[in-house]
Amino acid sequence: MPTTPPSKPDIRGRIEIEQLVNAFYERVRRDEILAPIFDEVAETDWVNHLPKMYAFWETVLFRTGNYCGNPLAAHARLVALTDMGRDKFDRWLTLFTTTVDEHFSGERAEHIKSCATDMANVIYSRINQVPDPRFDPANLSEEQRERYSRYRETPGASS
Ligand code: HEM
Repeated sequence: MPTTPPSKPDIRGRIEIEQLVNAFYERVRRDEILAPIFDEVAETDWVNHLPKMYAFWETVLFRTGNYCGNPLAAHARLVALTDMGRDKFDRWLTLFTTTVDEHFSGERAEHIKSCATDMANVIYSRINQVPDPRFDPANLSEEQRERYSRYRETPGASS
């Protein structure tokens, strides 16, 4: 009798965030396009970077991660050192969504992919100072409108 494969869990909290971030950066570090940006250009200290990313995603998903950094500045400084073009961001997103889908499914899994897509578009267009052709406010979903209005209300959030 055919068996149905067990469905994957959703992201429930910190444990799953750490699992996702670890699996994602293992992929990044094996990737021929992205790995050199971390290892050769930024000379990333992974012992610092991984906990920062746990806090970042925990803050995005659950607002409890105590992340206080500046993602735009962190990527803007790379533009002077290497090409941070659309192909790099598309690659980043492919690896991120593949990793999410490999481990998780559910509402939060969908939400984190949608947040990552939005942020990749914003970071890419802001650091390269080009308009994002895919970003048209008229096309925002109700969920995005609601989420963006909460970003603007967050005290101390950068624009
Ligand atoms: C082309 C794609 C990307 C590349 C090559 C890239 C690379 C990097 C590098 C090299 C750093 C600095 C690590 C260090 O401390 O040495 C960094 C930091 C960071 N990245 Fe990315 N990144 C990309 C896309 C993204 C996207 C789409 C997001 C968000 C969804 C993101 C979120 C962050 C955050 C939160 C930090 C930490 C910033 C801080 O210092 O507070 N990155 N990234």
